[in-house]
Amino acid sequence: MQINNKQIAVSVRSVGKKFGETVVLDDINFDVAADETVVLLGASGSGKTTILRIIAGLETPDSGKIILHGKDVTELPARERGVGVIFQSYALFPKMTVEKNIGYGLLLRRASKPEIAETVNRLIELVHLEEHRQKYPSQLSGGQQQRVAIARALAYEPEVLLFDEPFGVLDAQIRTRLRREIRTLLKKINVPSIFITHDQEEALELGDRIAVLNAGRLEQIGTPFDVYTKPATEYVATFLGAANLLLGIVRGRNFESENISLELENEMNFRDGQSVKLVFRPEDIFLRKPENLMQHYQKLTEGIVEEVSFVGAFERVIVRLDLSAKQPIIVTRPKTETTAFPLAAGQTVTVGLVRFRILPNFTLASERASRMVDTGGR
Ligand SMILES: Nc1ncnc2c1ncn2[C@@H]1O[C@H](COP(=O)(O)OP(=O)(O)O)[C@@H](O)[C@H]1O
Ligand SMILES: [Mg+2]
Repeated sequence: MQINNKQIAVSVRSVGKKFGETVVLDDINFDVAADETVVLLGASGSGKTTILRIIAGLETPDSGKIILHGKDVTELPARERGVGVIFQSYALFPKMTVEKNIGYGLLLRRASKPEIAETVNRLIELVHLEEHRQKYPSQLSGGQQQRVAIARALAYEPEVLLFDEPFGVLDAQIRTRLRREIRTLLKKINVPSIFITHDQEEALELGDRIAVLNAGRLEQIGTPFDVYTKPATEYVATFLGAANLLLGIVRGRNFESENISLELENEMNFRDGQSVKLVFRPEDIFLRKPENLMQHYQKLTEGIVEEVSFVGAFERVIVRLDLSAKQPIIVTRPKTETTAFPLAAGQTVTVGLVRFRILPNFTLASERASRMVDTGGR
């Protein structure tokens, strides 16, 4: 089996899991290619850790299969799966130096002394801990400890690496740096990996593909670009970044809502008369007529600027649309726009879109939530 001509390393097939009467995973299906990093993105409690534990063999699924490198391992114990897991708490051995922590697994497997030394050296170099090799975990920063944990997992030569929110307790700046380091590292070692996070920025930056999990269901899997620009559900649209929503109806090849009429793109296929939602991101809105604009533009409607705020790299504007509900939308404008076309509260503006999505109007998330009967039993 292959994804885009690449060998599949991990296959999660129709995995289901209940804890008591609560459905925690509902028919989960996805694959990870041999050199790929898939990020599992979801809110807290969506079932991310449970999927990881099932892949690692630390939890048994109620239904479905786990296939690693073509072999069904569903019944295999964790230690026979060749899976390395890196958790949020590093669980390093506190009384062992960096070197000893990394070499411990090899020692257990009775590797020879020169072999251990060679592997430990190579891994220390890989995670850039040369100056810290003789230190104890308590003498290291959080980021450094996490690198030891990764090197220790790699010492076992895992065929699959799983990361469960490994940067969870670190502060934002360190997270960003470590994220880039891990990205580089993962590309270098070429081990297929699954990386769990609830942080959308982390997901977009780290994943070759992102799988979005919502209440135990996989809503969409795709490249960061696809998932962000073509969200398949309202949940995905709003979880990955901000999105404005507007209810309407498809009439012929148009989206219509009160005085709004947008022409649908060719790929958007809906029934005439179908109730739909227009989804558009704050950065895809233009608050002026499209003079000198190179992108495809369609006028939405008029609006009145309610609030303009400076938020660092860009400006955020709240506009009330000229619709009966006076619905507010959020617009972000880059510096080039704010300088050339300054705006003030109270001003009337033309609201145009350079990109939008149309989704069928059913509230998947709430339907699903009501299906998940939580009896409180564990
Ligand atoms: N061992 C368990 N027993 C009962 N419920 C559990 C157990 N582990 C997880 N859960 C429940 O399963 C759901 C998913 O948990 P988890 O997979 O840890 O989510 P995430 O990692 O996305 O935060 C949560 O509602 C959690 O309370
Ligand atoms: Mg978790």
